Amino acid sequence: MPVSDADMVRAWTHVLTLSKLKPQEVVTVLTSDGTHPQTLRTALIAASTLGARVNRLDLPPVNAEHAHSRDSLAYLGTTPLTGNRAAMAALKESDLVLDLMTLLFSPEQMEILESGTKILLAVEPPEVLVRLLPSLEDKATVGEATALLKAAKEMHVTSRAGTDLRLPIGEFPTVQEYGFVDEPGRWDHWPSGFGFTFPNEGQASGRIVLDKGDILLPMKSYLTSQIEMTVEKGYVTAITGGLDADLLNDYMDTFADPEAYAISHIGWGTQKRARWSTLGLYDREQTLGMDARAFAGNFLFSLGPNNEAGGSRTTACHIDIPMRNCTVSLDGRDVVREGKLLAGKELAQ
Ligand SMILES: [Fe+2]
Repeated sequence: MPVSDADMVRAWTHVLTLSKLKPQEVVTVLTSDGTHPQTLRTALIAASTLGARVNRLDLPPVNAEHAHSRDSLAYLGTTPLTGNRAAMAALKESDLVLDLMTLLFSPEQMEILESGTKILLAVEPPEVLVRLLPSLEDKATVGEATALLKAAKEMHVTSRAGTDLRLPIGEFPTVQEYGFVDEPGRWDHWPSGFGFTFPNEGQASGRIVLDKGDILLPMKSYLTSQIEMTVEKGYVTAITGGLDADLLNDYMDTFADPEAYAISHIGWGTQKRARWSTLGLYDREQTLGMDARAFAGNFLFSLGPNNEAGGSRTTACHIDIPMRNCTVSLDGRDVVREGKLLAGKELAQ
C-alpha cells in the first residue's frame, strides 16, 4: 500500500523527536544504490524542518561478488567505509546518522558510535516504517524484557516440537532495540521491538527443533518441514532434516567458515504490531523481515558473529531464526510461554 509523503514526513518527525534531535545538530543521511527514494526524500525534509544541518553521503555498494542473495544482511564483510577516511570523518562529526544503506556489525560502525554519534537504521519499505512507528511504550516493553535478561544466569528454551536448549548468559551485555536513538552513541533499527544478549562463549548446548512455520532469514522463508540442530559447546554441530535443512546446510557451506555455526544473539520479540504472517505477503527483495524478528512472543536466535556485543567473533554469515510456540525461561521463570509474551503479573506465575 503506497504511503503519502506527508505521512512519511510525519513519521520521520516523530522518530527524530523521540531521538531528541535538536536545532543546529548535524544529521548525515547515509545512502547507497538500494536506498528507498521516498524514505530518503522525507528524511531530508523532516530533519531540515526540525532545524538540523543536513548532509547526504552516498556510498557505492560492496560485496556483490561474495553474496549469494540480494539481502543487505546476507554478507557481513567489508563495508563501503572500510579504509574510507573521508566518509568516516564526516560520520564521526555528525550528531546523528540516518542509515538508509545498512551498515551493520562492522568495526567502522563501532568507531562511529564510540565517537558519540547516534545511528538509526531505517531500510524497511515506507509502509512498514509507518505501521511500526516506535513509541515510548515500545521502549518500556523492551526495557522490561532486557531487565529480566540482565538479571538472569541461564536462558532455557523448550517447545512441544522438541527444542530443549540451555543458554548460560551474563558474559555479554544486553541490547535493546526499540526503534529510536535517544542517547549519545546509541544504535537502533526502526522498526524493532526486541531485546537480546549472547550466550556465554562456548556454553550453549542442547537441541533445537525448528518447526513448520518458523522463519529463516535472510532466506525469508517459512519452513515446510522440521529442521533439527544439535548444539554443543556454543556451536551447532549438526543440521538435519528434509529439503529445508538441505537448503540451509548448502547456504551456510558457501561461507566455508566454522564460526558461522556459533550461537549468536538470543532473545524474544515484544512488538505487538509486528506480525508473523507479514513476511508471506512480501516479495523477498522488498523487506528485511523486521516483522518476523519483532513479533511478540517469538524466540529469536541467530547464528554467526558476536562482535556487536563486544565479542571477538566476526563472520560474514549471519542467520536470524524467529521461532513460534517456544517457552523461554530465565532461571526457571517463564517470560514467553508457548509463544505468548508474558508481561506484568503473568511473569511471576
Ligand atoms: Fe541478527
